[in-house]
Amino acid sequence: MTSVSSQHARVLSGMRPTGRLHLGHYHGVLKNWIELQHEYDCFFFVADWHALTTDYDDPSAIPKSTFEMVIDWLAAGVSANSATLFVQSRVPEHAELHLLLSMMTPLGWLERVPSYKDQQEKLKEKDLATYGFLGYPLLQSADILIYKAGLVPVGEDQVAHVEMTREIARRFNHIYGREPDFADKAEQAKRKMGKKNAKLFDKLRRAYQEQGDQESLSVARALLDDQANITLGDRDRLLGYLEGGGRMILPEPQPLLTKASKMPGLDGQKMSKSYANTISLREAPDEVEKKLRTMPTDPQRIRRTDPGNPDVCPVWPFHRIYSDESCQQWVQAGCRSANIGCLECKQPIVDAVRAELAPIQSQAQEFEQQPDLVRTIINDGCERARDTARETMAEVRHAMSLNHI
Ligand code: TRP
Ligand code: SF4
Repeated sequence: MTSVSSQHARVLSGMRPTGRLHLGHYHGVLKNWIELQHEYDCFFFVADWHALTTDYDDPSAIPKSTFEMVIDWLAAGVSANSATLFVQSRVPEHAELHLLLSMMTPLGWLERVPSYKDQQEKLKEKDLATYGFLGYPLLQSADILIYKAGLVPVGEDQVAHVEMTREIARRFNHIYGREPDFADKAEQAKRKMGKKNAKLFDKLRRAYQEQGDQESLSVARALLDDQANITLGDRDRLLGYLEGGGRMILPEPQPLLTKASKMPGLDGQKMSKSYANTISLREAPDEVEKKLRTMPTDPQRIRRTDPGNPDVCPVWPFHRIYSDESCQQWVQAGCRSANIGCLECKQPIVDAVRAELAPIQSQAQEFEQQPDLVRTIINDGCERARDTARETMAEVRHAMSLNHI
């Protein structure tokens, strides 16, 4: 059972503030965001509280990293006109939802999330036996659920967190979505759509509940999406009524798996700051050239006259990304026959990476020179995000009987 409404699905994703981004982020994440921002209502944010879960002992770098990262988003083409860009800690409602969700989250759910033990192992030098670190995925659930996001673009390593978020939403709706007079309220809400729509809704609901007809489910969701004169609360009720549960206050999100970036690092491993194998988006052109010219090649190809094998050469994946068919054939043939040298082989990549980075760098420079503009973009985004977050919190508080006088 999914709850992504067929239209206007909201997309939400976050990045921890790691400072300047590199080509791995660009090809793995940002290009995807840039496409999504035109198709969906996108919310992208800096997960600065998540950074604190591991860097609580020295958070001093977080503000600068946040600023630099947002500049890289903007420079790469993430647009404040198309997407809402904000900073997690500036929307304190995330923390409130995190707290409320923590009341009903079984400890075991958090302890069995694979990243919990993995990261503790990986970051051995840090003491991560903290309450905050255990709650990392739950904070992420709050990030997602507070915007009722339908789709969450994430890498493989984050899928388990989205899965847990689905379980949290289901549990929440199960516990707090049961109004004593739910069916009556849903029937009333249905009538507000008008006779014709109400009849159609009944027919679709029956087809879904009695025959499991998925098509009817999507059509009925689209019908609800199109209703301008019913309240959000009524819409949630009808969604829940449609699927046979209680009121659906927090919809279950779906992960949108970002294909593993084809962009490896300069040494063939995953491109990552911790492996010192990156080309940053703001790498100076000379530095780009130097890094590429000195990157390792097929280790068997020692002399210029030795034939090589692109399959084992870290340069080849770069050609797969940057070079057209004919250039790729030139590499394959020239390498295997020792007709081209490695520097010659790398030159088209040097040119392509520089050409790719030039407009990004000039944009980044523009934004760097206008820090107030960047601040305004973030402030506006935070305001917009907060408006949505407040709406959800009003519903959540109500559902949890926190609507005191
Ligand atoms: N945990 C994510 C990461 O490390 C960042 C993140 C925080 C996130 N909250 C999120 C991603 C919500 C998607 C949705 O990459
Ligand atoms: Fe690698 Fe190109 Fe050299 Fe072949 S010619 S080993 S593909 S750099």
